[in-house]
Formats: sequence, structure tokens, C-alpha cells
Amino acid sequence: MEDIFRLDGKVAIVTGGAGGIGYKLALGLSRYGAKVVVASRNQEAICKAATDIHAETGNETLAIPVDVTDEQSMKQLVDSVVSKLGTIDILVNAMGLNLKREALQFPMEDWQKLFNANVNGTMIACKYVGQVFKEKGQGKIINLSSVRGIRGYTGGNVGYAATKGSVQMITKCLAIEWAPYNINVNAIGPALVITPGTIHIKNDPVRAEVYKKQIPLGRLADADDLIGTAVFLASKASDFITGQTIFVDGGMTAQ
Ligand SMILES: NC(=O)c1ccc[n+]([C@@H]2O[C@H](COP(=O)([O-])OP(=O)(O)OC[C@H]3O[C@@H](n4cnc5c(N)ncnc54)[C@H](OP(=O)(O)O)[C@@H]3O)[C@@H](O)[C@H]2O)c1
Repeated sequence: MEDIFRLDGKVAIVTGGAGGIGYKLALGLSRYGAKVVVASRNQEAICKAATDIHAETGNETLAIPVDVTDEQSMKQLVDSVVSKLGTIDILVNAMGLNLKREALQFPMEDWQKLFNANVNGTMIACKYVGQVFKEKGQGKIINLSSVRGIRGYTGGNVGYAATKGSVQMITKCLAIEWAPYNINVNAIGPALVITPGTIHIKNDPVRAEVYKKQIPLGRLADADDLIGTAVFLASKASDFITGQTIFVDGGMTAQ
């Protein structure tokens, strides 16, 4: 019987693939058989991530630098992956930036930085990989949104939340525009995920409790909690799902 969740031989680019979430998603796709390209700006970090993933799964893994906010850099990544691995089947946009600033003191320079990374970066990556997917008549795109993209928050979240709402709209619009080419475009919307960048929250019992109280399942997520959804959205199992954001949030947005 065909295993509709397997990704054997598929080529996946994971932008932000050395980050807290991106690394686990890249590892997860590799565990299910994909050839994974770990891509972000820090060459040392992506090389280490690719080496570690290959050491665990034995599947082909590459590290190729990219700045997703730079169209030329993204084009070079796409050309390089096609030349080295023959094609691209899956794009996971796990890169991103979070800057918390109160609205009345929001430096517009920081606002631009957030939009440049999270919105422009997502769109540019989709645009260049989308061209390859259009030509081959199939492809899977998984963007990273957030619970912050659907609910209103105080606490300096206006900029980040606006970018994550935009990621959801990019996801919906591309899903419709590219449906004729059999390209599935979906997003994952996590609540707080404990990674090396957020471990300080888990280690602060008072702060951790504030977050936990908002989560019906009563615990904080770690990046492993996102692997199943990413593999599902990258696989044949999700062929009739497009334009959706799946909230992996312990029930937070169900309230
Ligand atoms: N952690 C959470 O609680 C949480 C919750 C909800 C949603 N998310 C979303 O999930 C995604 C991953 O978050 P994370 O926690 O894994 O963050 P992270 O650990 O900071 O990783 C983000 C990665 O993005 C890469 N990146 C940033 N700008 C880039 C650019 N211009 N070009 C290429 N790569 C770039 C960085 O690598 P380089 O510096 O090497 O470029 C970094 O490895 C983000 O979109 C975030 O908003 C996170």
C-alpha cells in the first residue's frame, strides 16, 4: 500500500532551516525521505544544520546561503537547487523576525525591517520557487504564520502580528492564483514554540504560566510539535488542501 505521507526523493527547500523551528521541520522532512536544502544567511549555521540532519537520517542534505529579502539571492538559490538536485517539490518558509515595540513608540525603521523579513521575504521565496512549480505543474508551499496573525494582542505585537496576518493573506491569494498549476499553498500558525530563542520564557515560571493558561492543552509547544503538520502539508496526504492556515496551538485559537 502506498504511504501517502512519505516524501522519498522529494526536494525541499527550508528557508530559516537552521532556526529553532526551521531546523526541526527540515529534520522532519528528511526523516520522511526528502532531500533537504537548508537555506538562510548564516553559512556556518546552515552547514552545521545540514551536516547534523544528514548524520541522523542519511538522506541527501545541502546548505545553500540565501537572503530571502533579496530577489537576486533567492533566484540564485532556486537555480542552484535545480542545477544540483534537478527540481524542487516543497518550499517551507521558516525564516522570520520578531521585534516587539509599543505602537506609540514604534520606530518605522523597525516596522520596515519586520515587513521586509516576514512579508517581502515570504513573497519573494514563493515567487521564485512558484515559477519552478508552475513549470512542473505541481508543488507544495508551507509558510509560517502565527496565532498572532489571527488574534489581536497588546504587548508590542502590532508589527509582528500585522506581518503574520499578511502571511496568511499571501497564502490564501497564492493558493487561488496558483491552483490551476496544482500548487498547494498553506501555512502553519503556531502559538509560542519553545526553541533556543524562546527557552528563557519556559525557564521563567511566572511567564511560562501566563502562556500556559492561554492554552487549553495546558502546555507549551516545542518545535517537534510542528513536524507532523509540516510533513502532512508537504505530502500527497494533503493534495486537496490549499489556502489554509493550520493552527498548531494546543487549542488556543479555538477559544
Ligand atoms: N518560536 C515561536 O514561538 C514562533 C511562534 C509562531 C510563529 N513563529 C514563526 O516561525 C518562524 C521560525 O521561527 P523561529 O522561532 O524558528 O525563529 P528563529 O530561531 O529566529 O529562526 C529564524 C530564522 O530565519 C532566518 N532568517 C531571518 N531573516 C532571513 C533572511 N532575510 N533570509 C534568510 N533567512 C532569514 C534566520 O537565519 P539567518 O540569520 O542565518 O538568516 C533564522 O535562522 C518565523 O516565521 C516565526 O515568526 C515562531
